[in-house]
Amino acid sequence: MTNRPKVTLLAAMSIDGFIAPSDKEALPSTTWTSKEDWQFFTKQSKAIGTMILGSKTFETIKRALPERQMIIMTSEPSRYAEYSDPGLEFTSDPPAEILTKLQATGVKEVALCGGAHIYALFMQQGLVDEMALTVEPYVFGEGIKLFAGKMQQQFVLTKQEQLNEAGTLVLFYQRASEK
Ligand SMILES: NC(=O)c1ccc[n+]([C@@H]2O[C@H](COP(=O)([O-])OP(=O)(O)OC[C@H]3O[C@@H](n4cnc5c(N)ncnc54)[C@H](OP(=O)(O)O)[C@@H]3O)[C@@H](O)[C@H]2O)c1
Repeated sequence: MTNRPKVTLLAAMSIDGFIAPSDKEALPSTTWTSKEDWQFFTKQSKAIGTMILGSKTFETIKRALPERQMIIMTSEPSRYAEYSDPGLEFTSDPPAEILTKLQATGVKEVALCGGAHIYALFMQQGLVDEMALTVEPYVFGEGIKLFAGKMQQQFVLTKQEQLNEAGTLVLFYQRASEK
């Protein structure tokens, strides 16, 4: 057992591994991600209770999501002084410190909600325990990749679920145990 909350990465991606197309204006996530994925994300993130996300992803939401604590990573927390909702916390702490502080308040699990910078930051530090990846039946060719930068972590597929007739899949992975 680790002395920190379990980290479960939640992401929706295209078949070719992009979390956003290059032209986000023409194809916003409300268009290419399915209603079933939004329902899945809502259910999972509420069940986990605490979300960690980057400031750029927060800028696409710009509000507190109900029944969840949102920890927003930014180098400049003061930029978000206007947000007073108690469900929102802006921090410049590094990942391990965020997790240690959450652990101290009794948090057992967090949902890592992107974007690519934040996914990579946690993955590169070996801080991702599980993933639930929604694969939407789109191909983008270019855009924002799920992970950016060099990393090597092995995962094991533990479950898969089809969410709708179009073929939206959720793939559940767990970090392979170290030998
Ligand atoms: N399909 C999906 O499931 C999904 C999920 C999430 C996001 N997205 C998409 O991904 C895109 C955003 O991803 P992104 O990679 O550009 O941005 P991001 O990961 O959401 O946020 C990056 C920002 O996080 C802050 N940050 C990064 N490292 C930090 C550190 N070590 N300490 C403190 N703050 C740190 C910096 O903010 P400051 O500049 O404020 O310092 C940085 O600019 C959006 O298009 C969004 O729609 C898709």
